[in-house]
Amino acid sequence: MATNKNPLLLFVIITLLTSSQSSHATSPTVVSVADFGAAGDGRRYDTDAIQSAIDACSSSGGGRVLFPAGGSYLTGTLFLKSGVTLEIEKGARILGGTRQEDYPAESRRWYVVLAENATGVGITGGGEVNGQGERFVVREEARKNIMVSWNRTGDCEGDECRPRLVGFVDSDRVKVWNVTLNQPAYWCFHLVRSNNISIHDVSIYGDFNSPNNDGIDIEDSNNTVITRCHIDTGDDAICPKSSTGPVINLTVTDCWIRTKSSAIKLGSASFFDFKKFLFDKITIVDSHRGLGMQIRDGGNVSDVVFSNINISTRYYDPLWWGRAEPIYITSCPRDSTSRAGTISNILFVNITAVSENGVFLSGSRGGLLRNLRFRNVNLTYRRWTPYPGGLYDYRPGCQEMVNHTTAGMMMEHISGLDVENVKMRWSRGNLEGWEVNPLAFRPSTVNKVSFTEWRSDVY
Ligand SMILES: *[C@@H]1O[C@H](CO)[C@@H](O)[C@H](O)[C@H]1NC(C)=O
Ligand SMILES: *[C@@H]1O[C@H](CO)[C@@H](O)[C@H](O)[C@H]1NC(C)=O
Ligand SMILES: *[C@@H]1O[C@H](CO)[C@@H](O)[C@H](O)[C@H]1NC(C)=O
Ligand SMILES: *[C@@H]1O[C@H](CO)[C@@H](O)[C@H](O)[C@H]1NC(C)=O
Ligand SMILES: *[C@@H]1O[C@H](CO)[C@@H](O)[C@H](O)[C@H]1NC(C)=O
Ligand SMILES: *[C@@H]1O[C@H](CO)[C@@H](O)[C@H](O)[C@H]1NC(C)=O
Ligand SMILES: *[C@@H]1O[C@H](CO)[C@@H](O)[C@H](O)[C@H]1NC(C)=O
Ligand SMILES: *[C@@H]1O[C@H](CO)[C@@H](O)[C@H](O)[C@H]1NC(C)=O
Ligand SMILES: *[C@@H]1O[C@H](CO)[C@@H](O)[C@H](O)[C@H]1NC(C)=O
Ligand SMILES: *[C@@H]1O[C@H](CO)[C@@H](O)[C@H](O)[C@H]1NC(C)=O
Ligand SMILES: *[C@@H]1O[C@H](CO)[C@@H](O)[C@H](O)[C@H]1NC(C)=O
Repeated sequence: MATNKNPLLLFVIITLLTSSQSSHATSPTVVSVADFGAAGDGRRYDTDAIQSAIDACSSSGGGRVLFPAGGSYLTGTLFLKSGVTLEIEKGARILGGTRQEDYPAESRRWYVVLAENATGVGITGGGEVNGQGERFVVREEARKNIMVSWNRTGDCEGDECRPRLVGFVDSDRVKVWNVTLNQPAYWCFHLVRSNNISIHDVSIYGDFNSPNNDGIDIEDSNNTVITRCHIDTGDDAICPKSSTGPVINLTVTDCWIRTKSSAIKLGSASFFDFKKFLFDKITIVDSHRGLGMQIRDGGNVSDVVFSNINISTRYYDPLWWGRAEPIYITSCPRDSTSRAGTISNILFVNITAVSENGVFLSGSRGGLLRNLRFRNVNLTYRRWTPYPGGLYDYRPGCQEMVNHTTAGMMMEHISGLDVENVKMRWSRGNLEGWEVNPLAFRPSTVNKVSFTEWRSDVY
C-alpha cells in the first residue's frame, strides 16, 4: 500500500478499514443499580433490582453495572452474566444476606456473587463485597469461633454449611481488580473449572478466629495470574485444589499474607495434577505455615518455583492446621483407598524465614519427592510462643500426628535434593521441643543428595 500513489483510493481504503472496525466495536453499556430501584440503605433487599440491572446489561451486549458510592446494597445471590463487570464505587458495598432463603436451594451455588458458565466477567471499582461473616458466629471462642451451619435441609451436611462470598464457575476471561472482599461467612474467593483469570489489587480480610474463611481457592482452573494482593485470614490464604481436573499455569506475585493456617497450600484435594506454578515476591507474616503442599489423592505436582519470599511462621492453637513450618512439602495417600502422587521439579530460591519449627520434606513410598532444589535460603530458628513443639504433622489422614524431636530439615522419601547456599541459624535461647539437630533423614529413603555451601550455626 505504501507504493500506491492514488490519494482517492487510499482515502477509500482507510474509510473502509475505519468503518469495518467501528461496526465490530459495540459500545459498552453502563447501567446504575439505582436506576433499577436499588435502595442501597443496607436494610431493604436490593436483590431483584441489582439482578435486573445485570440482566439488562448482559442482554444489551455487556458493559458495567455501577453501584454508586455511599450505598450498602443488601442482597441474596447475584448471578453475574457474560460480558458484565460489577463496578462497586469506592465507599459502596455489596452486603451478603444472612438468611438461608437469600441463597439458591443447592448448597454448591451458595455465593453472594456467582458467575456460572460466563465469559468476560469481572468485579472492580474500589468498593467492597462484604459477607457479614461476623453474623455467622454462634459463639466466639478463644481457640476457634463456633459458626452457624445450614445443614437442616440435608443438601449440605456437617459443620461447613455457609455461603461463600464470590465464585466464578465454568467461566472464561475473569477479571477481578481494585476491590476489597471482606468477612466471608465461608470461603472468600472461589474459582472453579475456569480459564484465563486475572486478579490484581485485591484486598481480602476474614476474621483471624473464624474457620474456613480461605482467601483465594483456585480449583480445577488454568491460566490464573494474581498480583498485588493483600490477604489477612483465619484459614488458608492461597489454595489451589484439584477435584475434577488439573490446575495449570498459576502465577502469584507481589502479595502480602497473614493467616492462622497455610499462606500457600496446594491441596489437600489433589485428585488431578498441579503444573507450572510461580510464586514470586511474597511476604508471609505471623502465619501457621508458609509454603505448603498437602498432596493426598494421587494427583502429581510438577514445575513449581518459589522465589524472593520472606516468611515468619509461629505456632497457634493445634485446632488450626499448621505447626509453624516455613516450608512443608508432603505427599502420602490420605487413607487406604487413596493413591499417592509425586512432587517433582520444585525450586526454592531467595527465601528468608524466621520460624518456630523446621522445614518438613516428606514423601511416601509410592509418592516420592523428586528433584527439589534450594538456592540462597536463609533459615532462622527460634521460639517465641509458649505452644509445645516436637510433633510431625501428617494431617489430613496418613499418620496424623507423630511425636518426634524437631530438626532444621526433616527429610524422607526423596530422590534428588540439591541444596546450595543454605544457612541455618539457631537461637541460643529457648528452643523447647528441639534438639539442635540440623538435619534428620529417614534412613534409606533419601537418595541423590547434594549439599554445597551449607552452614548451620548457633547464634
Ligand atoms: C454454557 O454456555 C454455552 C454458551 O453460551 C451454552 O451453549 C451451554 O449450554 C451452557 N452450559 C450450561 C451448563 O449452562
Ligand atoms: C481503584 O478505584 C479507585 C476508585 O474508583 C480509583 O481511584 C483508583 O485509581 C483505582 N485503582 C486502581 C489500581 O485501579
Ligand atoms: C449441623 O451443624 C452443627 C453446628 O456446626 C453441628 O453441630 C451438627 O453436627 C451438624 N449436623 C449435621 C446433621 O450435619
Ligand atoms: C486445563 O487444561 C487441561 C489440559 O489442557 C484441560 O484438560 C482442562 O480441561 C483445562 N481446564 C479448564 C477449566 O479449561
Ligand atoms: C485471555 O483473554 C485475553 C483477553 O480476551 C486474551 O487476549 C488472551 O489470549 C487469553 N489468554 C489465554 C491464556 O487464554
Ligand atoms: C500454559 O501456559 C503456556 C505458556 O503460556 C501455554 O502455552 C499453555 O497452553 C498453557 N496451558 C494451558 C493448559 O492452558
Ligand atoms: C525480604 O526481606 C529483605 C530484607 O529485609 C528485603 O530486602 C526484601 O525486599 C524482602 N522481600 C520481600 C518479597 O518482601
Ligand atoms: C501421577 O503420575 C503417576 C506416575 O506417572 C501416574 O501413574 C498417575 O496416573 C498420575 N496421576 C494423575 C492424576 O494423572
Ligand atoms: C535471587 O536474588 C539474587 C540477588 O538478589 C538475584 O540476582 C536473583 O535474580 C534472584 N533470583 C531469582 C530467581 O529471582
Ligand atoms: C538471614 O536472616 C536473618 C533474619 O532475618 C538476618 O538477620 C540475616 O542478616 C540474614 N542473613 C543473610 C546472609 O541474608
Ligand atoms: C506425644 O507424647 C505425649 C507425652 O508422652 C503424649 O501425651 C501424646 O499423646 C503424644 N502424642 C502423639 C500424637 O502421639
